[in-house]
Amino acid sequence: MKQLFRTKAITQESESTLNRCLSKWDLTFLGVGAIIGTGIFVLTGIAAATQSGPAVVLSFIVAGFACTFAALSYAELAASVGGCGSAYGYSYAAFGELIAWIIGWDLLLEYAISVAAVANGWAGYFNNALTAIGFALPDALTKAPKLGGIINLPATLIILFLMSLLIFGVKHSAKINNIMVAVKLVTITVFIGLAMFNVNPENWHPFIPFGWFQTLPDGKTIGVFAGASIVFFAYVGFDAVSTAAEEAQNPQKDLPFGIVVSLVFCTAIYIIVSGLLTGVVHYSDLNVSSPVAHALKLLGYNWASALVATGVIAGLTTVMLVLYYGLTRVIFAMARDGLLPEFFNSVHEKTQTPVRVIVMCGVIMAIIAGLIPLGDLAELVNIGTLAAFVLVCFGVIVLRFTQPDLPRPFRSPFSPLFPALGMISCGALMAFLPAQTWWRFLIWLAIGLVFYFVYSKQHSKLKPLSSTH
Ligand code: ALA
Repeated sequence: MKQLFRTKAITQESESTLNRCLSKWDLTFLGVGAIIGTGIFVLTGIAAATQSGPAVVLSFIVAGFACTFAALSYAELAASVGGCGSAYGYSYAAFGELIAWIIGWDLLLEYAISVAAVANGWAGYFNNALTAIGFALPDALTKAPKLGGIINLPATLIILFLMSLLIFGVKHSAKINNIMVAVKLVTITVFIGLAMFNVNPENWHPFIPFGWFQTLPDGKTIGVFAGASIVFFAYVGFDAVSTAAEEAQNPQKDLPFGIVVSLVFCTAIYIIVSGLLTGVVHYSDLNVSSPVAHALKLLGYNWASALVATGVIAGLTTVMLVLYYGLTRVIFAMARDGLLPEFFNSVHEKTQTPVRVIVMCGVIMAIIAGLIPLGDLAELVNIGTLAAFVLVCFGVIVLRFTQPDLPRPFRSPFSPLFPALGMISCGALMAFLPAQTWWRFLIWLAIGLVFYFVYSKQHSKLKPLSSTH
């Protein structure tokens, strides 16, 4: 029993030999690169049309609050506990192995499924661009079976493409990330610049057409809070900054900076963009695969629509890269601790990248991206991420009591109030997700627990040397 709660000592020393090359602004850009993506460019439209109406702005604010509390907790743990395993590493120190395993397993779900979800958003804009230049793919090859197609081929292929990039070591390129982030920001600026002169306040009435929260007979949840639990996806990714801890020049100071600044910046953008989007087009017209480009087209700005679509296609690529990279980092950390097979803890001689992990994840994610629609994927990502956030907030409270003297270069303000609010708000967002998503999540966790007891517990590096069975 004691073994289940064995904790990893906090050393604040890196176990890695990776190059410490990322500055605090690189980390902030890494955050923005991972955050702004399918959430704002695609899900805003779906949430506005089916769950929140123009009050999708409120959904963004509600989700933003939950994330702010969680981000402050993340920042405290990133600065004091450190390590590249993100929430996995923190919980290993705070709660012990079993909870750390659950979080790590949960992060695998978060990162892997979010890459597949963003690939779906990417494919929406890509397909529209192909159609615009006269090379439309057959419908059956652009949709998951649940939506009446056979496979979402572009979503599958983009992941396989990124897989090959990562194999050859593109992860080192903070420069490319920075350029792509700039492209994304220009895209958003173009949209804001044009949309702000075309708002029709009529479109904001009624402002809350679906109410605050209700569950429909088919199990679907609607209303502002249900919308918040979907658009929460737009914030997923700031935690990926913490997976780059081993490459940060000064992780104790720079990680909290990167996490908090990127989150605040993105929240402001989301509020502006979602407000304008529902102001220029009636919310009921936004349930399309590329709503931002669609809105500009409806306003008659065809050139801007094409420009925005191109920017989104480039911008979403960075989101996938950062999350994919985060996934490989978490797997690496877990394999290094012995909780996942040693097989994954290897770097290819020639490319110097963890080729096995990259290929295994790439193939699985490509299949998922091709066969499961965006909405289902986003809900699953959200429930997993929210669960991790609840535990990170709890971890801050626990460590303040169990290790009061731990050096804390960054402290979440008003602890334990803020971490407790983080737990409550993230827990509430989980509760607003449909029952079906809960089932899928619980099944994933159950598989993880079986794996832990059959394999990880025996192979953990923290296993006492005397018991070798
Ligand atoms: N936050 C990221 C996105 O919206 C995952 O695409």
